[in-house]
Amino acid sequence: MTSLFQLEAVSKTFGQGAKAVPVLRAISLTLDHGELCAIMGASGSGKSTLMALMGLLDRPSGGRLLFRGRDLTAAPADDLAGIRNRDIGFVFQAFHLLPRLTARDNVALPLLYRGTPRPVALAEADARLEQVGLAHRRHHRPAELSGGQRQRTAIARALVGRPSVLLADEPTGNLDSRSAEEIMTILTRLNAGDGVTVVIVTHDPSIAATCRRRIVISDGRLCEDSRPVLDTAVPVPAERGRP
Ligand SMILES: Nc1ncnc2c1ncn2[C@@H]1O[C@H](COP(=O)(O)OP(=O)(O)OP(=O)(O)O)[C@@H](O)[C@H]1O
Ligand SMILES: [Mg+2]
Repeated sequence: MTSLFQLEAVSKTFGQGAKAVPVLRAISLTLDHGELCAIMGASGSGKSTLMALMGLLDRPSGGRLLFRGRDLTAAPADDLAGIRNRDIGFVFQAFHLLPRLTARDNVALPLLYRGTPRPVALAEADARLEQVGLAHRRHHRPAELSGGQRQRTAIARALVGRPSVLLADEPTGNLDSRSAEEIMTILTRLNAGDGVTVVIVTHDPSIAATCRRRIVISDGRLCEDSRPVLDTAVPVPAERGRP
């Protein structure tokens, strides 16, 4: 089976000439369906930049990036947006929910943008909120939710388009340890139960320890790519069937 992501000597440089800042240098890695992977590294090492490339939000300056075996290095922007919409869910540290909308409407929004009829989008939003244990809070606005509940709403929103991969950039960075644990329980369950491939950028070693694979970036270089043996070995799930 082809990998989900294949990065071949990917580099990223911001700016040009004397102002050029090399941020990622010759990163090569393969990510398979069903993986649960932590990305660690010091602040400024290039983790979010790497996530932006994998999320097709930005393009490499050098090297090749393949998704499901297709080289996207020079793909048209519309193609990248299409793949992003269909296949990739994002979760960020700062939640990025719209304050005026209820949890339910926030979660339904990506589908509404796509032209899904409102009743269908709302039913799908309810199902995803149920999945993260928030069905009872669906009519609340973000300000009426705790940090952990906001992040669960953001995860439900990321899932609403049924992506095959979830990219989470410090999803627990703004949360207390108990809420962080809840978020990790949800992410690991999505991975093990539903076969969603999950990549988590984190500074927290205890969160990284729950992931089967750990990648460490240092100064833009991949300096570790390991699969520590976990206490609770979970078999890698097959790719979930797509509706
Ligand atoms: N658009 C940009 N233009 C110029 N430099 C950038 C840009 N985006 C990121 N950088 C630089 O790239 C380097 C890596 O940034 P990045 O955000 O990927 O780090 P990070 O590992 O995610 O850090 P943190 O843990 O603090 O989130 C930093 O030095 C940053 O200043
Ligand atoms: Mg970052």
